[in-house]
Amino acid sequence: MSESRPRVQLTRGVPPVESFPIAQLAECAAAVLHEYGDVVLQYAPVRGFAPLRALLAREAGVDDDRVIVGQGSLQLQDFCARYLLGTGSVVYVEEPSYDRALTIIRRAGGQLVGFPLEEDGPDIDAVEARLESGERPKYFYVIPDFQNPSGAVLSLEKRQRLATLARAYEFWIVEDVPYRRLRYRGEEYPTLFELAPDRVIQMSSYSKLVSPGMRVGYVIAPASLAGPLAKMAEDTYIGPSYLNQAIIYEYIRRGWLEPNIARLCELYEPRLGATLSALEQHLADLATWQRPDGGFFVGVTLRFEVSADELLERARAANLILTDGRGFFPGCDVENFVRIPFCALTPEEINEGVVRLAEVLRGLVQAV
Ligand SMILES: Cc1ncc(COP(=O)(O)O)c(C=O)c1O
Repeated sequence: MSESRPRVQLTRGVPPVESFPIAQLAECAAAVLHEYGDVVLQYAPVRGFAPLRALLAREAGVDDDRVIVGQGSLQLQDFCARYLLGTGSVVYVEEPSYDRALTIIRRAGGQLVGFPLEEDGPDIDAVEARLESGERPKYFYVIPDFQNPSGAVLSLEKRQRLATLARAYEFWIVEDVPYRRLRYRGEEYPTLFELAPDRVIQMSSYSKLVSPGMRVGYVIAPASLAGPLAKMAEDTYIGPSYLNQAIIYEYIRRGWLEPNIARLCELYEPRLGATLSALEQHLADLATWQRPDGGFFVGVTLRFEVSADELLERARAANLILTDGRGFFPGCDVENFVRIPFCALTPEEINEGVVRLAEVLRGLVQAV
């Protein structure tokens, strides 16, 4: 009976525990407590641990003041939404997009307008048409590299077009790049920030490169926004955890980040490979998907309509736990989408998950 099979959890886009460099982080923690214990254990200026900000500012080619390092990037995104949006402010998003970001935008009063994802990113002709019709979004929230939940990468041409549109129609691009460095093969494109630094608010974090529990994320904000965002952060949490930021800084200073990223790519690449070959083997007639070169996710679109409730329930009965795909769509109205987060599972678990998904889907097709 299916119920006796072990549970396969295809729900959370989290790193696996074997990815954590625990011993190295323990060394860094001890070192920073000895070296800057007086600073990192105190309340401290809200924009974050100065040496880490300076390093990020140098990499981005901006003044240190434009870098805010906070408690994970999602909260910084919340500050951006709350500062920039009012009731009814239009926000463009990819469709599908990161469910928590959509929630944040809605909660800040934003009105979501989704643009369907194609292989190379959202439909930019549709974006242009809406802009030409007179609509003025406050910003476009984009995850250009190994998008959550689809795995899509925005092509160079679409990056350039989006940058040009943002300048012409004066909207911000909120560029979220937590997966960018997790490229297992192929060449990267320039970031939107590199293409239009005057129009882009870029955010990222060390959650997927070191540890999400450290909660160290950052935003490279335009000069006009950095002050208000910092004020919002200060009024929310006074100052961020300097201890965690200093540990991350020490980790980078010792030259351990780049080898860790290489190790993660080695760990995850076979998991992506297992996902793509299991999909090819078991789901080719039932669904379509992107073939990403990195990241955490492969998004699967079923070739037929289903009831998401029924899909989730049948999957649960087969001890396969799925995320509700509707949450990734602005209208929560698309039922035939399944996100497969592959990094936290072994290749064997991934294969078993896809086999079970195929079995559930075949049952649903027959029931139609
Ligand atoms: C696209 C995207 N942005 C932001 C986050 C949140 O990251 P952080 O841990 O920095 O808050 C996630 C986490 O899964 C994500 O997928």
